[in-house]
Amino acid sequence: MEHAADYAAEIARRRTFAIISHPDAGKTTLTERLLRAGGAIQMAGQVRAKGERRRTRSDWMTIERERGISVVTSVMTFEHAGCVFNLLDTPGHEDFSEDTYRTLTAVDSAVMVIDAAKGIEARTRKLFEICRLRDIPILTFVNKMDRESQDPFALLDEVAGALALDTAPMTWPVGRARDFVGTYDLHARTMNLTEEVAQSDPRMAALGEEIDLVRAALPEFDRAAFMQGSLTPVYFGSAIREIGVLDLLDALAAFGPRPRAQPADLRTVEATEPALTALVFKIQANMDPNHRDRIAFARVCSGRLVRGMRLKQVRTGKQIPLHAPQFFFARDRELAEEAYAGDVVGIPNHGTLRIGDTLTEGEEVNFGGVPSFAPEILRRVRLDDAMKAKKLRQALQELAEEGVVQIFRPQDGAPPLVGVVGSLQLDVLVARLRAEYGVAIGYDSVPYTVARWVTSDDRAALETFVAANRSSLADDLDGAPVFLASSAFMMRRTEEQSPRLTFRDIKDVH
Ligand code: G4P
Repeated sequence: MEHAADYAAEIARRRTFAIISHPDAGKTTLTERLLRAGGAIQMAGQVRAKGERRRTRSDWMTIERERGISVVTSVMTFEHAGCVFNLLDTPGHEDFSEDTYRTLTAVDSAVMVIDAAKGIEARTRKLFEICRLRDIPILTFVNKMDRESQDPFALLDEVAGALALDTAPMTWPVGRARDFVGTYDLHARTMNLTEEVAQSDPRMAALGEEIDLVRAALPEFDRAAFMQGSLTPVYFGSAIREIGVLDLLDALAAFGPRPRAQPADLRTVEATEPALTALVFKIQANMDPNHRDRIAFARVCSGRLVRGMRLKQVRTGKQIPLHAPQFFFARDRELAEEAYAGDVVGIPNHGTLRIGDTLTEGEEVNFGGVPSFAPEILRRVRLDDAMKAKKLRQALQELAEEGVVQIFRPQDGAPPLVGVVGSLQLDVLVARLRAEYGVAIGYDSVPYTVARWVTSDDRAALETFVAANRSSLADDLDGAPVFLASSAFMMRRTEEQSPRLTFRDIKDVH
């Protein structure tokens, strides 16, 4: 039996994070360089290569190949400076942003990558808002400093203004564009250069002046403000030239957040508690098409996971044996013999585990908090072969539990609706139903454009509303009522007419 102090030390060296960015800002390149810095891969280019390989191996991902996008989220584990880093990858395409949001519930910090020429872009802003909702501390990496870019002061201003976030530069770029040669560490007062630069070089004179200005005009790093999410430390670099990447990784090791306490329904669970708790935040099918597997990704929230344990699925009370939990590396996976709070393990299962499930050693606590977002697009599923109705029902249930689409069953008995945030999800559903269940479907349009979960503290009011609006109501996967409206205007009107009810566009999955 290990001593509690050992747990605490293991947990304290975990750093679990994700990278958020607008497409093309350099997330993939930075991921590769971080992994390489951590010794997880030998050659840059393998993160992308892995994606390619999966695509050719997997049937339904033909969509991915055809459209040149990645829909796979996974986790990469590597070590550096005495820390264990878990980098949770997120899909690049915004049609799969629900996956990204769910993944952000499982991290302790995020690295926001910004293109030095383009500054804050739409997707960065949206993902940032999600992080802010969840109080996730953010480090900023200003990428592509090896190209023509905006002035660093202007960029810092832009981040601060666009996101209402204090910016504390931690490093400063030495040289610009083609003459960018490295960074100056504003705290250690050291240079990290790729080549020698003479003191007489004009870049040095410029650096001296800028540093004076930085010290006089810009906020200093304040860890408490960073942890609260009101200040971001900023690093300048070039992922492709591997400049500034170590600055970032060392920073995560030095002051990146450790595994945080996790709020649950009955109490807050501290990461360092010895009893194991874990939260399923993502399900991924078909990672290995040879096995038709389904992996539930669970974040260990407290304690230590040991292979062979039996865990309780709090939602159902079922015992889940952990025969083969897995760790994922850049290119491979391997059996996880043990894992600590902050780690993410993949648990193979055949549909028992669902997004939002809490696993414990027996305690009845529920984390919840993995969000569902109101769909942007609603469609009615059209089944061509009526003999397959039962099969379709089961398939939709399974795929909805996996988070591929959301499903809404109209209370008036009409055929089910599916809801998605991005239209590519609809294509994925068609392809997977065909490949995995042998069911061919099409879609019909529906007169609804807005869906909101309806809740109320006043049960009678909710029941009255439900009875009066059956034709506009559907049940979601968990049987929660969802109101469907033909327009934003109609939705607002219904809200105004129903003051005792709350209409939500985000549902925290329990
Ligand atoms: P993403 O995952 O955020 O979408 O971005 P990704 O890393 O794929 O990078 C997008 C493009 O920007 C790639 O070029 C990549 O090489 C380039 N890039 C990334 N980091 C840097 C950097 O620090 N400096 C410069 N100059 N370019 C950078 P591409 O031409 O689209 O692809 P590729 O053919 O180079 O792979």
